[in-house]
Amino acid sequence: MKLAVHGATGRMGLAVIRLAAAADDVQIVGGACAADDPLAGRDLGELSGIGALGVVASPDTAAALLGADVVIDFSLATAVASLVTSAARQGVAVVSGTTNLDAAATAALERAASSVPVLWAPNMSLGIEVLADLVTRAVRGLGSDYDVEIVELHHKKKVDAPSGTARRLADAARSARPDLAERHARSGNVGPRPESELGVLAVRGGDVVGDHTVFLLGNGERLELTHRATNRDLFAAGALRAARFVVGKPARRYALADVLG
Ligand SMILES: NC(=O)c1ccc[n+]([C@@H]2O[C@H](COP(=O)([O-])OP(=O)(O)OC[C@H]3O[C@@H](n4cnc5c(N)ncnc54)[C@H](OP(=O)(O)O)[C@@H]3O)[C@@H](O)[C@H]2O)c1
Repeated sequence: MKLAVHGATGRMGLAVIRLAAAADDVQIVGGACAADDPLAGRDLGELSGIGALGVVASPDTAAALLGADVVIDFSLATAVASLVTSAARQGVAVVSGTTNLDAAATAALERAASSVPVLWAPNMSLGIEVLADLVTRAVRGLGSDYDVEIVELHHKKKVDAPSGTARRLADAARSARPDLAERHARSGNVGPRPESELGVLAVRGGDVVGDHTVFLLGNGERLELTHRATNRDLFAAGALRAARFVVGKPARRYALADVLG
């Protein structure tokens, strides 16, 4: 598999490069970075701590995609639309884990999926897929007497809130109770909690890779369903698994659930 990485100099991009370089079936052919990235031109193997790879970080996305079967993207929401447009034009499959996408990025993913396979997932871990399924079942089983709240913790450099995974879990709760509406902050005289509220709280600090707890709060008991990621290699490995899956598949949108079968 010939792989390009977009957001190549970021925390996730470098984790993907480190894991891909160690895989027998993957050849890294390019890495794209932001136009003003001071690391542009640097060898991506050296940046990821594994020694020179002969592939440098390039601010030219089209050049970084040349010859690739698939691009793995962990970048910035505002960079996704132009990446997927280039990938579609160049016939390169897309696996994107970038979160907090706006309408333009989401529409660009849809358009690209008419010419190449496209998989976007706000969390590339198997555990979160299983947690989302558990949340749907728990919310359905407990009904509207139980209040649903989600708390997520991430490192202090994360730029978006709430996390894409928290939104994914909120969607999982809503698929059992469509009346639930997300609420992202409480302050001042907010009054009693309405039954249809689904509170989502973002905690930021330190080097936390990513924790998510879904609370189901009833009278006299509560359930707490928690996932803790302890290493971002988890997400990089999931993205590589997704990349292997999409290469050679027909052009359309795919979800992580497709990869997991
Ligand atoms: N789906 C998952 O499982 C999962 C897991 C972890 C993280 N994420 C998400 O992945 C994204 C990246 O996370 P991270 O922790 O790796 O962040 P990060 O360290 O800030 O990396 C993002 C990288 O993208 C670069 N970038 C910005 N604009 C670009 C452009 N136009 N073209 C190419 N590269 C560009 C940034 O460069 P500059 O620093 O120069 O701006 C930075 O190097 C976030 O949205 C995060 O929420 C998803």
